[in-house]
Amino acid sequence: MKIALIGMPAIGKTSIGRKLARHCDYPFIDLDQRLTQDLGCSIPEYFERMGEAAFRDAEARLLAQLAQQPGDCVLATGGGVVLRPENRAILTAHYHVIYLTAKPEALLRRVRNDQTRPLLKVADPLAKLQELYAQRHPLYEATADVQVAADCVAMRSVLKTIETDLCTLGVELKDIDQA
Ligand code: S3P
Repeated sequence: MKIALIGMPAIGKTSIGRKLARHCDYPFIDLDQRLTQDLGCSIPEYFERMGEAAFRDAEARLLAQLAQQPGDCVLATGGGVVLRPENRAILTAHYHVIYLTAKPEALLRRVRNDQTRPLLKVADPLAKLQELYAQRHPLYEATADVQVAADCVAMRSVLKTIETDLCTLGVELKDIDQA
């Protein structure tokens, strides 16, 4: 099975995805990390040099490529992946999509002084998070098979909730404490 994690920036898609992949014994793919390799520079640098639209093009191309690859995986996406309808269509067609939910206020703590997220390098990050949330929450909801609250909850219990869902789908998991 292909599993994708979607949700707002800084909700923990990469760290939860990496652990989940170990528990499922699936390869882990981080879309942003792969993009950084492909683009040959960091995401903030790419935004600055080429602009957001060029980044979205590269993101959409890579997502389409990955969906065609055979085999199981856990994919951590970038927070803006749901913006393009073609990306949403790929995710729903090829992946079991898990939306890690969080309110902007809960994310604010995690993104303070964050230099790695170009969209949040602004004077008022809370206002920006609220704006992104208002735009994206309906898109995340429409794309997801399942929603898991990931703010104000320990990573361990987020993983447990995800794994309970995956068990009902027949995914075999290693013991949570051993992986
Ligand atoms: C983006 C989120 C980032 C990264 C890029 C754009 C966004 O990923 O893809 O900076 O539009 O929200 P994270 O969700 O891991 O921060």
